[in-house]
Amino acid sequence: MHLILLGLPGAGKGTQAKLLADKHGLLHVSTGDLFRAAAAEGTDLGKRAQEYMSRGELVPDEVTISMLLDRIAKPDAAAGVMLDGFPRTIPQAEALDAALEARGERIEGVLYIKVPEDLLMARLTGRWSCGNCGAIYHELTNPPREAGTCDVCGGALSQRADDRPDTVAKRLETNREWTEALAAYYEQQGKLHGADGTGEPADVTGRLEAILSKLSGAAA
Ligand code: AP5
Repeated sequence: MHLILLGLPGAGKGTQAKLLADKHGLLHVSTGDLFRAAAAEGTDLGKRAQEYMSRGELVPDEVTISMLLDRIAKPDAAAGVMLDGFPRTIPQAEALDAALEARGERIEGVLYIKVPEDLLMARLTGRWSCGNCGAIYHELTNPPREAGTCDVCGGALSQRADDRPDTVAKRLETNREWTEALAAYYEQQGKLHGADGTGEPADVTGRLEAILSKLSGAAA
């Protein structure tokens, strides 16, 4: 089963993907994480992506599409993927559909996590994440037991450079229009499932699980 998590920056895609992907035997693939890893390694791709990310802009499609399609062609993606942050444009969605169709596969469902924009700035500017295992925290709503240290693996926590308020504002502006366009694209395919992304993360997980149960039932 291949799934997409759709939502504005800070909607909770990464938080929920980390909880749901393993449980459902899916590989969590985040294009943001792939770009950050490439930037940390200092590759040409990473350096190029970093320029766009630091401005809160989308990395160009020709770079993003080939990176994602290469990743999901690897053997560990064969059982199914949970895509987080991809697609973000209609050309990305069309390229994904075409690549899966060539393999006789398809996207089963798109889970659209909806959160009012006025909550997103506070979520992102208070986010801390683990450089080692990727666990996600928030300094007010989900703090680690010890400031700066990951509860899961003891790794060091840091804040993302693109979570500064001015860059967050730009990211929201960049993504607003595309997110609605993608929602319409998948609605037309009958694959869109909206979920309220407010409240405790566990409540959001419950809403997404309810959608996944229906999708699994329909696929069986
Ligand atoms: P990416 O890394 O994908 O960032 P994003 O989409 O902006 O999403 P975030 O990771 O910021 O948010 P999230 O929804 O995962 O929220 P999270 O769970 O962390 O992309 C970064 C950049 O890479 C882009 O700007 C672009 O430049 C580039 N890029 C990536 N993909 C691309 C593509 N396909 N095409 C082109 N460019 C691309 O939660 C956020 C915070 O909220 C955390 O602190 C968390 O603890 C807290 N939180 C979560 N749930 C709740 C809740 N229910 N209640 C309260 N707090 C909560």
